[in-house]
Amino acid sequence: MTSSLSAQDDGTIVIIANRGPHDFVWEDGRWIAKTAAGGLMTMIEPLARQPDVAWFCCVSEPPGSEAERDALYTTAKDQTAPDLNVVPVPLPADVYQDYYGEISNEVLWMLQHNLVGQFGYSSLDERRHRAWDNYLHANERMADAVLATEIPVRAFLIQDYHLYPLAEMLRQRYPETASLHFIHIPFPDPSVLKLLPKAWREVMLRGLLGADVVGLQTRADVRSFLSCCAEVLGAEVDFSQRTVRLANGRVVRARAFPASSDPAAIRALQDSPEVQAGRDRIAAVTAEMNVIRVDRLDPSKNQILGFTAFGRLLEAHPELHGRVRFLAFLVPSRTDLTVYRQYHDAVYAEIAAINERFRGTCGFDPIEVLYTNDRAQAVAAMELCDVLLVNSRQDGMNLVVKEWALVSRKPGVLVLSESTGVADDIPDSALLVCPLDVEGTASALAEALAMGGEQRGAWVEQIRNGVHKWTARDWLEAQLKELGLALAAPPAKPEPAPIAEPGVVERELTVRNREGIHARPAAAFVRCAREFDDEIELLKDGERYSAKSILAVLTANLSCGSTFRLRVEGPNADLVAQRLSEIVASFADEDR
Ligand code: G6P
Repeated sequence: MTSSLSAQDDGTIVIIANRGPHDFVWEDGRWIAKTAAGGLMTMIEPLARQPDVAWFCCVSEPPGSEAERDALYTTAKDQTAPDLNVVPVPLPADVYQDYYGEISNEVLWMLQHNLVGQFGYSSLDERRHRAWDNYLHANERMADAVLATEIPVRAFLIQDYHLYPLAEMLRQRYPETASLHFIHIPFPDPSVLKLLPKAWREVMLRGLLGADVVGLQTRADVRSFLSCCAEVLGAEVDFSQRTVRLANGRVVRARAFPASSDPAAIRALQDSPEVQAGRDRIAAVTAEMNVIRVDRLDPSKNQILGFTAFGRLLEAHPELHGRVRFLAFLVPSRTDLTVYRQYHDAVYAEIAAINERFRGTCGFDPIEVLYTNDRAQAVAAMELCDVLLVNSRQDGMNLVVKEWALVSRKPGVLVLSESTGVADDIPDSALLVCPLDVEGTASALAEALAMGGEQRGAWVEQIRNGVHKWTARDWLEAQLKELGLALAAPPAKPEPAPIAEPGVVERELTVRNREGIHARPAAAFVRCAREFDDEIELLKDGERYSAKSILAVLTANLSCGSTFRLRVEGPNADLVAQRLSEIVASFADEDR
């Protein structure tokens, strides 16, 4: 049966994740809430903002801050959004470091992205074995923290690899309460999982089987999970029903819920002043053609081989020198972990070598790194890039691809690793590459840069339509439905934005300022139009006027109340139309 979450007597839906919608940081002797970055938050937010939902998250409590624990709870209440019910669970900093850094990221993250050896999971020493105890301990603390609140719980939604043992621990405390554990990263096959000690992999699988539903990104992940249950635990698995029957008769379902993006939220971001500022900054570093990448600086994203492939592209195609640039939007991540610091240095060394080699013939550094967490700036670059490179070693889904398809205006071409979850959905709309194949990636980059506009537009549209058909909200609703719950009052699904004829944008504008577009406003309008190479015209009363000629604009007789069509054709069509519309609107503001 399906019930609305807002019904009081249903109890609370409890979300449990390592990160909350905010990070709690101990700075200068006090707790501060900072908005957390990442896809997880945006996907869960519609649920988190409903009444009767609580979000438990882990917080690293540094020595000396314990006495201020009450202040942590007060900060969670006062500094986060009023409609979010966030419950921080403090863990001593050394326990947190073991649970989050040593085990979750340096072992599980690496193993599940097939990173074994250099820049990955390489061995387990005595230190790591002690860290495993703290991983278990951190999970116990989470389970106890929920119990301690004594809230009636309707269902648990557990997130990701930090919390593998948790569902089982919660079942001991809440035997009847429904739970779903969603894993955002790839699930390994049995042969890979066996690189963990027997006791660890058993805890991991038995922990997950404490849930009623194990959610994974793709059908391949579901198969891998079921195979591990069969081979590692010897459990009774039904591959056709995608279920595991436990010794006590309880049946656990394994289901794929591919993560997705929120088109409305992305569109709102695109309209923000932050993205506009990003466009202005990006304009200063772009070349005639631009390859971009947008990802956390992480060995799983395979940045080094991506840059090596770009170097090979320049070597094989001297005609591209001075015409193409690689803009790398790298987001700092897990910087206190040794393996991430080493990877950072190796990435920078590769970039330096390529820039050194080709700077002279290109006339500029062919690779430009923007090492910062600035989503708005990255969106601005995604709008107009020629090629988006996503060559991850492995990736649960990769939401950058979906966001790029939503914001792309030029449009560009996607060069995509076959080992990403998203590649399963869009095999015919991207140039697929094997992530370890440097030569193949270089060839794909060359092919992408040479591809015609019509083909590019058709591919982007296919991906974009796919995102509109299955959004972040669908991802969430499908999970709730699996537990017999529903989100209250879903808003109407936004229609996919129509894609105009490639490179052409038309807009209907009305002149609202008292003096009309004469003299000074006309000069400002023309000045802006002349900043772009695109063809820009005003269509009025069956006539066409060039927007770059002051005489033509004056002749169009754009008096107050008159309406005209702005037509822009060229690579920056969307951007130009947006800028000129804003200018026309700003003339009216000046009257006030
Ligand atoms: C991936 C994981 C998330 C994680 C995010 C950022 O998307 O699936 O659970 O939050 O990376 O990593 P961080 O370690 O900074 O939380």
